[in-house]
Amino acid sequence: MIKKFLRILLILFVSLSIVWITNDAVQRYLGIKIIQFETPNTKNTPTLPEDATAKLLVKTYKNDIETYQKEVFVRIITNKPVRLVNTKNTIILQTKNKDMEYHHVIKIGNLGTGNNSRKIQIQAYDKDVYESLETDIKNFNIADVVFNINKKNGYLLNFDDKVSFILDPNDLTANVSRHTSIPTDYEPSDLVDLNKDKLLYTNVSNIMLRTEAADALVNMLNVLKKETGKNLVIASGYRSYLQQEEVYSYWVKQLGITEAEKISAKPGQSEHQLGTTVDFFSEDSGFEFTNKFADTVAGKWLQKNSYKFGFIQSYPVGKEELTGYNAESWHYRYIGINNAMEYMKFIDSMTLNEFLDKIQEQDIVYMQ
Ligand code: DAL
Ligand code: ZN
Repeated sequence: MIKKFLRILLILFVSLSIVWITNDAVQRYLGIKIIQFETPNTKNTPTLPEDATAKLLVKTYKNDIETYQKEVFVRIITNKPVRLVNTKNTIILQTKNKDMEYHHVIKIGNLGTGNNSRKIQIQAYDKDVYESLETDIKNFNIADVVFNINKKNGYLLNFDDKVSFILDPNDLTANVSRHTSIPTDYEPSDLVDLNKDKLLYTNVSNIMLRTEAADALVNMLNVLKKETGKNLVIASGYRSYLQQEEVYSYWVKQLGITEAEKISAKPGQSEHQLGTTVDFFSEDSGFEFTNKFADTVAGKWLQKNSYKFGFIQSYPVGKEELTGYNAESWHYRYIGINNAMEYMKFIDSMTLNEFLDKIQEQDIVYMQ
């Protein structure tokens, strides 16, 4: 009797350990750097494309060589089993939990240093019922493919919105839009205080910007002053995800969601979170956010000259439908001088987002 009891106890202990090890194994494999999850042909109402394939794009940070990893691990949680179309990437762990979620850990190896990316194709797949899955495949909603990453070496991604995540928020050309988000906990590592460190006029204390953008801003404002005699006040710079959440909720309460979204980005979708974007106030337009700024001496000067310093007005007049935001003549984003010069060639035909999308495309090296 006692022997039987001990045996049951032992079995219980071993089973619990196995569960624990499995979870721990999952945990250990969650370190990842940059990720974008594409759901082709799906926007707000996702349906699975005919070929039942989702694409996952992984890219290591350009400026993060220190934490460079030879391999990255991606966890995908789905409501059905998946297989990789490209077998060069290995699935190293597949488990199913009590909620019938399938956990797949995919290893992506052979990463070079610097900027590189991999395209992985996953496909709904179940060995046992594969035939019936094929016919049932339209019921497999791609929105159920949850791409879940835990913070270890990377960023915690929030998958509430069906949007892609910015691959590298440190990249000056990172494309932030209504369909691409910055990871929740991304914060630039080289922020400087515009007033204390760069002696610029700010309307509140602690307005921060990334070093390169801050230096370019100082140059630009010095030349502006020299050529026009005008000073500008910086009214906003870097905003964290949480600060953007406050701004956004404030406007939603004030105006309702539709109107609020014309003037405020959702948290994670503001260029201000990149630490490269500023809002200007000028005395000539009453130190407030108004498009009268566009008609002031300084506002006009910026429209003509800001690109020479790497700054672009993200939400210009006439492009509201395309950018999704009301015109903001006071809002300028630094993308680097060369990029800004290049953008000037396309300024009439492309929004900044469209241009950045084009640049990012060129960056991507797909693995076949
Ligand atoms: N006002 C701009 C759109 C922002 O919230 O980033
Ligand atoms: Zn702004």
